Amino acid sequence: MKGIILAGGSGTRLYPLTMVTSKQLLPVYNKPMIYYPLSTLMLAKIRDILIISTPEDTPRIKQLLGDGSAFGVNLSYAVQEKPEGIAQAFLIGKEFIGDDPCAMILGDNIFYGNGLGHKLHDAKVMAEKGQACVFGYYVEDPKRFGVMEFSRHEKGTENGSVTVLSVEEKPKEPKSNYAIVGLYFYPAGVSEKAAQVKPSKRGELEITTLNDMYLQEGRLGAQLLGRGFTWMDAGTFDSLRKATNFVCMIEQYQGMTISAPEEIAYWSGWIDAAKLQESAKRYGKSPYGEHLKAVLEGKIIL
Ligand code: DAU
Repeated sequence: MKGIILAGGSGTRLYPLTMVTSKQLLPVYNKPMIYYPLSTLMLAKIRDILIISTPEDTPRIKQLLGDGSAFGVNLSYAVQEKPEGIAQAFLIGKEFIGDDPCAMILGDNIFYGNGLGHKLHDAKVMAEKGQACVFGYYVEDPKRFGVMEFSRHEKGTENGSVTVLSVEEKPKEPKSNYAIVGLYFYPAGVSEKAAQVKPSKRGELEITTLNDMYLQEGRLGAQLLGRGFTWMDAGTFDSLRKATNFVCMIEQYQGMTISAPEEIAYWSGWIDAAKLQESAKRYGKSPYGEHLKAVLEGKIIL
């Protein structure tokens, strides 16, 4: 399974912060935003990852993350010339994806929760069997998101899986309070399907149109992320501040860093102690570096 982090866009909602900096490199508490979606794909055990960003920001992201060897993954990079829609990622990534299933995460989406790895695993298995999978999350303002309507009372809801009835992008009258979050799993052939997506009224290749195509074929599954999970998109000042507060609170209560890709790589057996040591050094005297050292010294066991 391949993975894509879509980290482009104009970021105008965060001006002047993003006038000369990539949104996805802004801090969410103590680490760059892109560490969070990278960690999420790594928790799904995805190791071939394409990062797509703007012509200006791609080199900066590459400078930070390199070829991925520090994280035990293979990172490659591609440019999206203009933000012409989220589904365009599958056209840009066509060669990279090849004949494999592919997951995609938006570069400003942050996921946290015990058992997230299991949820991701289930979605991956679905995609490998030919079904797309999206995730629903309760929000108070569904008009801002892609929204799913689903049947509630069927067997299986207890593990979070539901039957999707409809999907709509930023509906004026949402059929539910469940946003479709920015993490999608698709079966092999997603680039060919994305090539059939027609631009919407706002001129974008909408991810919701792609999801609707799978739904019409009876190939769209969904899981709900319930109360045990937190999802945020950090694309506005308010949500960026909330994300920072959230990560700060979790890390201070637990006394531990979350979403450290090097740590995930180490526990997954993708990098050895020497490599982790190298990274710990690279981060100098920062709390992030101290955290990696604590992992190395066996003070933190998962
Ligand atoms: O965050 C989840 C929501 O993301 C979904 O519920 C919606 O269905 C989906 O359309 C999207 O809505 P947004 O209004 O957040 O989309 P936005 O245009 O802000 O793009 C989301 C991120 O993707 C943003 O960080 C920029 C990046 N992006 C977006 C587009 C359209 C790109 O890198 N390239 C693009 O062409």
